[in-house]
Amino acid sequence: MPRNIIIAGNWKMNKTSAEGADLARSIVQVIGNQTEITVILCPPFTALQAVGGIVSNSSVRLGAQNMSDKPAGAYTGEVSSAMLRDIHVTHVILGHSERRALYGETDAIVNKKTLAALENNLKPILCVGETLAERESNSTFDVIRTQIRGALDSVSPLQFDEVIIAYEPVWAIGTGKTATPAIAQEVHAFIRSELSALYGDTLSQKTRILYGGSMKPDNAAALLAQPDIDGGLIGGAALNAKDFIALVESGRSASVKKA
Ligand code: 13P
Repeated sequence: MPRNIIIAGNWKMNKTSAEGADLARSIVQVIGNQTEITVILCPPFTALQAVGGIVSNSSVRLGAQNMSDKPAGAYTGEVSSAMLRDIHVTHVILGHSERRALYGETDAIVNKKTLAALENNLKPILCVGETLAERESNSTFDVIRTQIRGALDSVSPLQFDEVIIAYEPVWAIGTGKTATPAIAQEVHAFIRSELSALYGDTLSQKTRILYGGSMKPDNAAALLAQPDIDGGLIGGAALNAKDFIALVESGRSASVKKA
């Protein structure tokens, strides 16, 4: 069975609610009825509801960029999984390298968030990736293995079935330096072999592993043609409708070729 391709837009800290609704409307108008691939928009918290209203009658899904590992209570500034579910969020990005580097998220924290998301029927998009220094010191695979094992600690096979992985080499994020298709494929294949060691071949073959890091309309086709690249998690190019729609179209072409 070929894996269903995912194209997800991570808007990061961009777009007000009104701007987000405009962008979502432009996207939904063109690709809102396609069902060959899964398209997910991940606006900031403050735009979730407005974007949710626009995508609700389309095939486009709604994702958050982060969430609390706690269910409720005195956690100033945090947002719970139940709050996200309440406004029809289906996916949540966890362990993004910006959260790890700038907000001190460790593998243990990412693990707690992953478990909390799964317990509340949110599908985690779990991000892993090495820094340039780690790549240059030949520790890419060790770093990825530690991140994968740490984030998935105590996640049952049944729960793991809902998890999406995103490989985002830190040196490729927002830098315009994309991993070559061969470099990305090598790490994606490694991730799949790690998942197979943890959960067996059947589940690891079903898991979608997305690439993220300067994915653009002009490099997407070559990346998506790789056997273990099952989609993209897109930052900069997800902020304008034309580029994002072109990326969705690349995903649809790749899906036809891989079928
Ligand atoms: P860019 O596409 O801007 O490099 O960002 C990638 C990313 O971090 C997506 O989560």
